[in-house]
Amino acid sequence: MIVRLRMTERGVMRKSIFSYLGVIAGLVLATGTAQADKLTYYCSAQEDWCQLMARSFEEATGIDVDMTRKSSGETYAQVRAEASNPKGDVWWGGTGDPHLQAAEEGLTEEYISPMRDQLHGWAIAQAESAGNRTIGIYSGALGYGYNTELVAANNLPEPSCWKDLLKPEYKGHVQMANPNSSGTAYTTLASMVQLFGEDEGFEFMKSLHANINQYTKSGSAPIKAAGRGENTIGIVFMHDAVKQAVNGFPIKVVAPCEGTGYEIGSMSIIKGARNPESARKFYDWALSADAQNLALQVNAFQVMSNISAEASPSAPDMSTIKLIDYDFRKYGSSAERKRLLKKWDEEVSTLPQ
Ligand code: G6P
Repeated sequence: MIVRLRMTERGVMRKSIFSYLGVIAGLVLATGTAQADKLTYYCSAQEDWCQLMARSFEEATGIDVDMTRKSSGETYAQVRAEASNPKGDVWWGGTGDPHLQAAEEGLTEEYISPMRDQLHGWAIAQAESAGNRTIGIYSGALGYGYNTELVAANNLPEPSCWKDLLKPEYKGHVQMANPNSSGTAYTTLASMVQLFGEDEGFEFMKSLHANINQYTKSGSAPIKAAGRGENTIGIVFMHDAVKQAVNGFPIKVVAPCEGTGYEIGSMSIIKGARNPESARKFYDWALSADAQNLALQVNAFQVMSNISAEASPSAPDMSTIKLIDYDFRKYGSSAERKRLLKKWDEEVSTLPQ
């Protein structure tokens, strides 16, 4: 300010010419590198977390973010539909299977981040199994949660196993998402097939169908409905049920007695991205401990992939949950995912309820 006040007239003139030139240079640069200042971000995690990630990245970099939240299967379908004219730059969050399928189909771009050595082995393994076209950002176990008040009010037994959910008294009390749109529900289908074998796994899904009151689009919707008292039992990732309990709703979280599957939530850069530089910046930033710690601000209790990211004491303790050895390579393959979804559409969803 002082400097400006003491400026000679010539100085002021010179300054305004420079500012003028600066504006022109800025415009020229802006036209040439406009792409560096924008990011079209497809997000498949919880809406509040997606928003927080978008805002925080904007603050950290000054890059404008245009965010869309859709479920994992839906985002996969969108990326695929847009493949000849890609609109998205980066796809962050959602279960790993559709990211793996997109990688196999060449819909996502190979990238090796300099942040990779800060990650847990499972996150890197996810990348390596997909020719570095995706990477693990978080992990979480599947289970279910129930509204304790509704269970008591309806005189229902307290479930603790997957097979408990087949009891006739739960008719109309169970909700899960549709595995076509939701990665959570596809993880459920693939977990049952791996846990019980394909035939018994499909028998399980068919009997469960009789008790389902609604197949939602988004994976976490069934437990949000249970939190609000509009549904009794929601099949979801355990951390989504914990979030409802931490938010004060009467939800009990169950790690099913037979064991369960899990997800490696993933991130991928979309092939042919219009803003590849912004996409890589986001990717590197999203793998940092600082960015991953944002999860705790929105009660997202997944296990994060950066070794130094903080864990919440409320997060489900993965070491005490009986986890199956989920075969991501197989169940994230294009052929297997398509086959299982078709079979579920034809043999399960069409059954009368
Ligand atoms: C929730 C979970 C995430 C999961 C996602 C999948 O947001 O917190 O861990 O990756 O659901 O969403 P979807 O709607 O595809 O089941």
